[in-house]
Amino acid sequence: MRAFNKGALGILKVEGNENKGVYSGKIRDRVYLPEGSATLSFPKSDPAPQKVAANKQQRIEIGKSVYDNNCAACHQPTGVGIPKAFPPLANSDYLAKDPNRAITAIIHGLNGKITVNGEIYDSVMPAVALNDESVANVVTYVLNSWGNKGGEVTPAQVKAVRK
Ligand code: HEC
Repeated sequence: MRAFNKGALGILKVEGNENKGVYSGKIRDRVYLPEGSATLSFPKSDPAPQKVAANKQQRIEIGKSVYDNNCAACHQPTGVGIPKAFPPLANSDYLAKDPNRAITAIIHGLNGKITVNGEIYDSVMPAVALNDESVANVVTYVLNSWGNKGGEVTPAQVKAVRK
């Protein structure tokens, strides 16, 4: 009798623990990966984080997917932004003055008053957790799109700004 009860309890206990582990672990991971820590969301948001661009043209192509996944929600797919909320990247005089401003905004985030194409923005851009390669690609894409002046940013440049 005693031995039977002990065994039954033992089995129940193991099943309970297993179920709890499976559910809480997996559900939490899936909720937190996309929405929580920016670092953890990076592999999901960048479809090809291991792909290294061999030239400027590839940088622009890969950079477009980085942009669509990490920037377009705020700055809009064609970089026009949203008045009073998200400044335009299209034809941005703020960016034209120094492309390092885009690198800094991505790595460290950006807040406080800035003037872009004559409009004042006083908002907050969160840091976007991307590796040096992806930052180089996305900034190169932006520089070569929507009326911006062109140019190329390399991972080495991003690394220098990160320090
Ligand atoms: C959550 C919304 C959001 C996301 C995502 C975001 N930004 Fe921003 N970004 C902002 C806001 C807001 C500002 C203005 C901050 C301020 O007012 O100081 C800004 C400013 C900028 C600026 C400088 C101003 C300008 O218009 O030239 C650049 C460049 C920029 N972002 C690039 C990017 C890039 C590239 C990405 C993707 C890697 C990105 N942002 C993702 C909201 C966002």
